[in-house]
Amino acid sequence: MDGSGTDAVFAGSIPEFYDDYLVPLIFEPYAENLAARLVRLDPARALEIAAGTGVVTRAAARALPEHVELVATDLNQAMLDHARAVGAARPVRWQQADALRLPFADAGFDVVFCQFGAMFFPDKVRAFGEARRVLRPGGTLVFNVWDRIEQNEFADIVTTALAGLYPADPPRFLARTPHGYSDLDAIAEDLARAGFTTAPRCETVAAHSRAASARAVAVAYCQGTPLRTEIEQRPGADLAEATAVCAAAITQRFGPGPVDGTIQAHVVTVPGV
Ligand SMILES: C[S@@+](CC[C@H](N)C(=O)[O-])C[C@H]1O[C@@H](n2cnc3c(N)ncnc32)[C@H](O)[C@@H]1O
Repeated sequence: MDGSGTDAVFAGSIPEFYDDYLVPLIFEPYAENLAARLVRLDPARALEIAAGTGVVTRAAARALPEHVELVATDLNQAMLDHARAVGAARPVRWQQADALRLPFADAGFDVVFCQFGAMFFPDKVRAFGEARRVLRPGGTLVFNVWDRIEQNEFADIVTTALAGLYPADPPRFLARTPHGYSDLDAIAEDLARAGFTTAPRCETVAAHSRAASARAVAVAYCQGTPLRTEIEQRPGADLAEATAVCAAAITQRFGPGPVDGTIQAHVVTVPGV
C-alpha cells in the first residue's frame, strides 16, 4: 500500500504523542543546532515553515534577540494548536500555511528555516521556490533533512520489525518519507531548479537519540507519526501489538532499561539571491 496520501497528516492524537515522545527523542538536539545557526544569521524577521509542535520555534525564541520577529507556520492546524498551547519565551505569530503556497508577500523575511519538513512537501521545487520568493535579497534559507534510514538506528529497527509483522504489506512510512530525501545532489538540484543560484552548504550532523525505555521509542514512532495511520490501515491491525513488537525488537538490540541510538541528519544552508 502506498500511504503517501496520509504521510503529511499530523492530526488526531498524533501531535500529543509527537511532542511528548518523538520531540525529546530525535528533534531536540537538531532544534538547538538550528537555533544556533539562526543566531549567527542575525535576522530581523524570520519565517519557520513546517514548524510542527514548535520545538525549533521555542529554541529560536530563547536564542534570538528580543527584537527579532518570529512567524511560525505549518500545514496542520492541530500541530500549531499544540505549539501555541505549549507557548514560547516570547510572542510568536502562529499561522497555518502550506509550504507550497506561502501566504506572505515577496522579500519579507531575512531568514526562512525549516526542521525536518522538506521531505513531506509533495513538490520540493515549488516549496523551495516559495521560500526564495519570500526571502529578501541576500537572505538565507536553512533547513535540515534526515540521512538514510540505515544511519538512524531506531527508525530502521521499527521499520524492519513492522515488515515482520505485516510481511504482505509492510508499513514503509519512515523509509519513504522522513528518510526518503537524503540525497544531497538531488537536494542541490531541486534548489537550483527553484531559482537559488548559489550552491548550498551541507553539513552532516550525527547525534544521540536517548529514551528511558525501548517502549518509549516504539510509542514515539508508532503512535506519534503518520506511521500510526499506516499501521491502523492494515486489515485487522492492532496498534498496541505493533508498538509492543517494535519495543521488543529495540530491547533485543539495546537490552532492557534506557536506550541510546544514533541518529544522523544533513543541515543545508542556502544563500538567497
Ligand atoms: C517531522 S514534522 C517536523 C515538525 C517540526 N519542524 C519539528 O522539528 O518537530 C513535519 C511537519 O511538516 C508539516 N508539513 C507537512 N506537509 C507540509 C506542507 N505542505 N506545508 C507545511 N508543513 C507541512 C507537518 O504538519 C509536520 O508538522
